[in-house]
Amino acid sequence: MADSYPLARDGRPIASLISAADIAARVAELGRRITEDYRELGAELELIGVLKGSVIFLADLCRTIALPISVDFIGIASYGDETQSSGVVQITSDLTRPIEGKHVIVIEDIIDTGLTAHYLLENLATRHPASLKLCSLLHKPERAVREVAIDYLGFTIPNKFVVGYGLDYAQRYRNLAYIGCLEEE
Ligand code: IMP
Ligand code: MG
Repeated sequence: MADSYPLARDGRPIASLISAADIAARVAELGRRITEDYRELGAELELIGVLKGSVIFLADLCRTIALPISVDFIGIASYGDETQSSGVVQITSDLTRPIEGKHVIVIEDIIDTGLTAHYLLENLATRHPASLKLCSLLHKPERAVREVAIDYLGFTIPNKFVVGYGLDYAQRYRNLAYIGCLEEE
């Protein structure tokens, strides 16, 4: 329904899985941990946001990191507008600057099958960063096809399709303030 979009779907509110307050608390905790872990490291810390789902998470997270950072983005296509992975991963928009010699944290919205993150980390490693870590807001371990080590994780969630706080369904619902679940119980 256009008049209640994006807070409702077919006239019903989208069920909350993780509240905005819980997200904010967890993001602040991740920022504190990253600040601690990178405080002593001399080289530049670069956050690489994976477009588009990580944008809101990155925007909040970077403001909880009390260190000098820089930000870049990479565009990856692994999904069409559907909820199932195509298994095909491709860079649609590359970084604007080299990462050689930098401490890099890749910021993801969700690790689902792990195919995207696996591909991306392998690709970025060939560019010789000083270090390379992965930070993801969400993890759906039941769907794992590729194991990837998540260095900083927000929440582990059940095998449900979620939207909000940057995550979309067919490009919609990214502006929902909480993580909501589209599927019926
Ligand atoms: P993976 O390659 O299967 O790990 O999926 C990575 C991408 O799929 C994520 O970065 C999301 O863009 C998308 N994705 C996976 N699960 C969901 C979900 O539940 N809601 C929204 N997007 C999802
Ligand atoms: Mg994504």
